[in-house]
Order: sequence, then C-alpha cells, then structure tokens
Amino acid sequence: MEKPVALVTGANRGIGFEVVKQLAEKGYYVFLCGRDPRAAEEAAVKLRAGGLAVEPLELDVTKPESIRRALERVEELGRLDALVNNAGVLLDEGVPGLRVPVETVHATFEVNVYGALRVSQTFAPLMIRGESGNIVNVSSIMGQLAYAGPGYLAYRSSKAALNMITRVLAAELKPHGIRVNSAHPGWVRTRMGGPAAPGTPEEGAKPIVWLATLGPGGPTGGLFGPGLKPLDW
Ligand SMILES: NC(=O)c1ccc[n+]([C@@H]2O[C@H](COP(=O)([O-])OP(=O)(O)OC[C@H]3O[C@@H](n4cnc5c(N)ncnc54)[C@H](OP(=O)(O)O)[C@@H]3O)[C@@H](O)[C@H]2O)c1
Repeated sequence: MEKPVALVTGANRGIGFEVVKQLAEKGYYVFLCGRDPRAAEEAAVKLRAGGLAVEPLELDVTKPESIRRALERVEELGRLDALVNNAGVLLDEGVPGLRVPVETVHATFEVNVYGALRVSQTFAPLMIRGESGNIVNVSSIMGQLAYAGPGYLAYRSSKAALNMITRVLAAELKPHGIRVNSAHPGWVRTRMGGPAAPGTPEEGAKPIVWLATLGPGGPTGGLFGPGLKPLDW
C-alpha cells in the first residue's frame, strides 16, 4: 500500500466518523471500524460516495477475537501509520460517585480503558515494524486529575486511566519512532455530547487528526485539546 494507512475505532458515528473523513481527505487509506458491521458499512458507503479511500471493518474493542480478525485484514496492507482509539462510552451521567454501581465503572473501563489497551497492544507490533506512526487516545478534560469535580466517577476515572496508558506507551514506543498522545476533542454535539454542546464533530476531530498525522519530532506523551496546546493532567 502506497498511501499511509489509518484505523479509527468507534467510527460509525460521532467524532470517529469525522476523524475518518478528515484523515481520508488528507490522503490516508482509512479503516472505519464499528462493533456493528452493518453500521460500519453504511457509514463507509457515505464517505466512499465522495471518492474517499475508506474501508469498513468490524471491531468491537471489548472482544479480543474481533480485534485479532481486524488485525489480519490490516496486515494484508502491510502497514499502519495512525491508530485512533476513539470508541468510548459514558454510562454514569447524572449519577453521584457515591452511588454509581461498581458494575457501571467496570463496563465503562471495558470500553474506554481495556478496549483502547487491547487494540493498542494488538496493533503496536505492526506499527513497530514500520518504525514510525502515531497512536491517539481520545480522552477528555473530564479525566484531568487537577480539575476533577463531583460526578461522572466512572467516566472521569476511565479517561484518567487512559491518560496513564498514553504516558506509559509513549515512553515504550518512543525508541520505535511512534508517538502516543491523548486528545480532548472539546465538548461537541454527538450522541454522547448531547444537543447543547457548543462544538461540531468536525471541530472535535481536528486535534485528533493533528495528533494522528504528526511527523518525526512531533510531541509524544501529552494531552492536547482544540487549541493544539498541551493541557494539564
Ligand atoms: N462528545 C463530546 O463532547 C466528547 C468530549 C470529550 C471526549 N469525547 C470522547 O470522544 C470519543 C467519541 O465520542 P462521541 O462523542 O463521538 O460519542 P458517540 O457519538 O456516542 O460515539 C461513540 C462511538 O463508540 C462506539 N463504541 C461504543 N462501544 C464500543 C465497543 N465496545 N467497540 C467499538 N466501538 C464502540 C459507538 O458504537 P455504536 O454506534 O455501536 O454504539 C460509537 O461509534 C469518546 O471516546 C468520548 O469519550 C467526547
């Protein structure tokens, strides 16, 4: 494959869909991943109609077998330049931390933390073979320890844990020329963000796409928001 290759999880809608679109517009061949293969197919069809190089791929971040099958397809192309761990859930809106069921915290971590880790561990060897590339963990300022307030205990904790994964993998992958960063998309209008959010998915995708397309010498191990400036942890 001559084109650089990207993979985006949870891309059948919301911010992930926009990330796929913008990466494809930059000349990437992009795997648009969804846990529901029909939803991924329908989303990919929309972008392919505009002439973009987008391929739907079934990938449920909670299912190792599904991730392994996705790797087999990507390996046929022989390279992976950008991995965007975008799939995420928010399951404890409006529930105080003192009352959130531990099962809800667990279910949140399954997708937001273990999911991103499983996918990164599975695809990193392919990226290491290429000796370059970017991993972007789609995080949130809700995961900042410095400014945490009440509520959203499951979601906040999951994004804080995801940020630690960013730090550890950034250190481990630096010798291989691979950058790992967390991105905060801003508060944007998606099913998760809700209709009152000020930003659009297009705007939310911008910092993610910027981090996914960094070249050698670009930052690694940081958290970046819409201003493309490092944010506090
Ligand atoms: N919207 C905001 O304001 C905001 C702010 C800060 C951070 N973020 C982060 O941005 C990312 C994208 O959020 P969004 O606003 O675009 O949310 P969204 O519209 O709710 O989309 C979430 C995506 O994740 C997918 N997903 C959920 N569980 C999955 C699993 N087990 N395997 C694979 N995919 C799965 C969903 O697939 P289905 O369609 O099958 O459910 C969907 O494609 C998330 O990580 C979120 O935490 C969002």
